[in-house]
Amino acid sequence: MYANDPHAPARARLTVPALRKMKAEGRRIVSITAYDASFARSVDAAGIDLVLVGDSLGMVCQGRDSTLPVTVDDIVYHVACVARGLSGAFLVADLPFQSDATPERALDASTRCLQAGAQMVKLEGAGPKLEVIRFLAEREIPVCAHLGLTPQSVLRLGGYKVQGREAAAAKKLLADARAVAEAGADLLVLECVPSALAAEITAAVEIPTIGIGAGPSCDGQILVLHDMLGMNSGHRRPRFVKDFLAEGGSVLGAFRAYAAAVRDGSFPAPEHGY
Ligand code: KIV
Repeated sequence: MYANDPHAPARARLTVPALRKMKAEGRRIVSITAYDASFARSVDAAGIDLVLVGDSLGMVCQGRDSTLPVTVDDIVYHVACVARGLSGAFLVADLPFQSDATPERALDASTRCLQAGAQMVKLEGAGPKLEVIRFLAEREIPVCAHLGLTPQSVLRLGGYKVQGREAAAAKKLLADARAVAEAGADLLVLECVPSALAAEITAAVEIPTIGIGAGPSCDGQILVLHDMLGMNSGHRRPRFVKDFLAEGGSVLGAFRAYAAAVRDGSFPAPEHGY
């Protein structure tokens, strides 16, 4: 099937309850980032479950050094582009740096993202963000929390480093995961945390976890699109990335190979974890 085929059968749109059901039934949630309509069509045609318009667009599309300069306008623009390319995949929009600093700001930014076509917003951190998550969830905005390596904290973290290696940090991450779920998050991204800790968190929370550099036991996996196509965006390739274009033979083939590998449990392999 050609990825842009207007006669391709439409997929039923995934929903928040459907994502929860996938966790309950042990079906892995295949996720990827996308930033434009053409790639979104191809990702959708490959049967990928969830697409994130990540603030990683600052690095892979805009050529910046970090995600911090990305604005709500940037995210909304890319969400609208991606939404036009999707029929079945669930679409999540990242809330960029400080757009979630207060509940009111987060509500404004989230409303714009949902009106542009997203079905959920993602925000980084716990602590003061618990109030924001609760505020959004109470106003019927589905929220994906993001813990572990939170790239918007790069200045304080001093780099992109694995989180939760020491016992105290692991205990805090587990407590934060429980807290974001309790505050009303419907999904949880775990980035760059030891595989054993991600497994413990996944077992401890009822909401699905989506891992990136978090081992094979999460309920789903996500990769940045450019990374899994083997493109060098000018940054060191992290250990958790695999080039699926090499084995898939084409862009659509790469997306299908990735989806199959996540679903049959062969990706991530032990060498992709910490
Ligand atoms: O911005 C992004 O692409 C992300 C993923 C890496 C989870 O947050």
